[in-house]
Parts: sequence; structure tokens; C-alpha cells
Amino acid sequence: MGPMKAGFFVALVFLFFLPIFFIFTFGQVPDTPVAAQPEAIGVTLRQLAQKRNLQIGAAVNIGPLLNNPNYQQVLAREFNVVVPENAMKFETIHPQRDRFLFQELDTMLNFAEANQMELRLHPLVWDEQLPAWLVRGNFSREELMDILKEHIQTIIKRYRGKSRYIDVVNEGIARDGSLRDTIWLRGIGPEYIDLSFIWAHEADPAAKLFFNEFSAEELSIKSDAVYDLVAGMLKRGVPIHGVGMQMHKGLHNKPKMAEVAKNVARLNQLGLEVQITEMDVAIKGAVGETQLQEQAQIYGETMRMCLEAAKCSAVILWGFSDRYTWMTSLIGEGGSPLIFDEFFRPKPAYQALKEELLRN
Ligand code: XIL
Repeated sequence: MGPMKAGFFVALVFLFFLPIFFIFTFGQVPDTPVAAQPEAIGVTLRQLAQKRNLQIGAAVNIGPLLNNPNYQQVLAREFNVVVPENAMKFETIHPQRDRFLFQELDTMLNFAEANQMELRLHPLVWDEQLPAWLVRGNFSREELMDILKEHIQTIIKRYRGKSRYIDVVNEGIARDGSLRDTIWLRGIGPEYIDLSFIWAHEADPAAKLFFNEFSAEELSIKSDAVYDLVAGMLKRGVPIHGVGMQMHKGLHNKPKMAEVAKNVARLNQLGLEVQITEMDVAIKGAVGETQLQEQAQIYGETMRMCLEAAKCSAVILWGFSDRYTWMTSLIGEGGSPLIFDEFFRPKPAYQALKEELLRN
């Protein structure tokens, strides 16, 4: 066989095996159309955010992180913070009393490090996605305190120095402003919140510790209660550094941005940092150009509010592509709440975020 023929043969074999290689490596045929390429995108969100010293992040799902090259590409290109959407939920990371499973979170850390991104730990203390051994354990107060301390410190110590921001207590306040009725409140008492932060700080004194809450962005009984809680913690000398505002919103439930700004300002005045931690904007029903524009406006206004605040250091979205969103299980429809469509093409909301970042 001459060199020409041999080359032809090699090329044929290569072409034949390429799709097979793809399917084996990534577990699926890539999405079509292929994600918008950087040329078409121009400057990225991440580049713009970095210039303004702002963290821009997304909640990340382990499935597509392992299997979808478009997902990986857009995530690394547009964001500088990774938040585990479910990998750090109690039932996932601590499925038995004496057993921690770090594999998923390690995968996310590796991805983050490989792409010069940060990993945000979320959440340590919450009342949902708890394992049966914990819920049905009938533990005494002492036992429950041991369990919670060990849970918090084991996770933080493993990622010490690798994760600067931690959601320590998640969703601790009820709609009426009382402490939310949780396994921790019932079993330990109201001091579970202070204790969680003290234990977290002990495990990593350099980490910024957050109290993260939903539907407490505007001025309300609930956000007043969050304010009073964290103000009290500061007075007692409890190590808390910030408040996370989840910002799960929708066209049917638009944020009153002037109120959000006031709320952020009063928290900042306490010396606390604020971050937008789980933003999405659901569209119920038909999704047309009008709805997409309204959605974009909400994203843009939120970004502007954060940039104008004294200390709002991150805008983190609860996912980034409409292909993967928790809305599907939450409201029974996709809701198209994010800034890239199902094919990873940028939506008007993406442009709106950029415009605000580009504004002087
Ligand atoms: C959600 C996930 O997105 C879902 O996949 C999971 O089934 C339930 O939890 N507030 C939070 C997040 O702090 O951790 C939640 O994430 C959404 C609401």
C-alpha cells in the first residue's frame, strides 16, 4: 500500500470511529444545533463580571456536567462560580450516619479548578433532602448536635482553602417571620443557627459564612425577620459574613427592585455582604418575544441593583440553560427561567445581563 492509500485508509477509519468515540466518551450525541461558539458571543459574561470584581455563577447538575459537552463549554465560558445544585444535599453527601459520599462534589471542584472557577458550598443546614436515617432516627438533643457538628465540619474541612463562600443555614425563616419549623429547631432549639455558624467558622476561619433565604428579597415580615436574626447574631459575636437572596422569581411574581435595593442596603449597613444566590425567572404559559423581553428586564434590573449596591458580590443563577431546570418538577412545566435556551443559545436575558455589566 502506497502512502496515499494508507492515508486514505486512516482517514476512513477515523471518520468511522469518530461518532462512536463521541457516544462512548460523552454518553450521548451532542445537542443540535451546537452551542453558540465564542466568536458569535464576543466578550463573555464572565470576562465582564471579572472586570467589575463580581462573581457570576450557576447551580450545576452532575448529569450534564459529566455527559454534555455543550453544557461544560458554556458553563466554563460564561461563569466563574460553580454551585452544586444537589451534590451537597444531606441525603446525597451523607447517606448513612457514618458514611460521606464526596464523589459528585469532588467532580465539581475538579471542574471548577480546571477552569479557574470557584466552588460555593451549598447548603450545610437545611430541612429538605434529608436521609431517612436522620429523619427517622429519633435522636436526642445531644446526638443531633453531634450529628450536625460532624456534618458541617467534615464537609468544610475537606474543601478548606478551596471554597471561599459557604451557605451555612438555608431557609431558616418561615413566611410569618418565625423560625422555620425544622428538624434542627425541634431537636436542638433556636440556638442551632448560632451553633452551626460557630462550628463552620471553627472548621475554616477564612471562609465567608452565609445565611441563605428565599422570598426575603423585598421588604416584608419575612425579610425583617432575616434582618433581625442576622443583626442579633452579629451582636452576639456569631461569625456570619453574608446573606444570600435566592431570587426565585417569575413574570407572575416580579421583584420590586426598589425594595430589594433597600433591603440589600440595610444588610450592607450591618457590615454584611449580600449575594444573589439562586436566580431564575419563570415564564408560566406561552413563551414569546414579549415574555422573553420581560424576563430579560428582570435579569437586567437585578444585575444593576447588585452593581449599584455597596456590597453585593455575586449574581448566581439556579442553572443556566432551560434544558436543565428544577422548574419542570416544581411547576409542572419548563418555565424557561434561565438565560440560555435548551440548545444553549443566549436569550435576551443573557444580553440584558451583559448590557448592565457594560454600562458605566
Ligand atoms: C432544588 C434543586 O434545584 C432540585 O433539583 C431539588 O429537587 C430540590 O432542591 N432552594 C434551595 C435549593 O436552596 O437548594 C433548591 O434546589 C431550590 C430552592
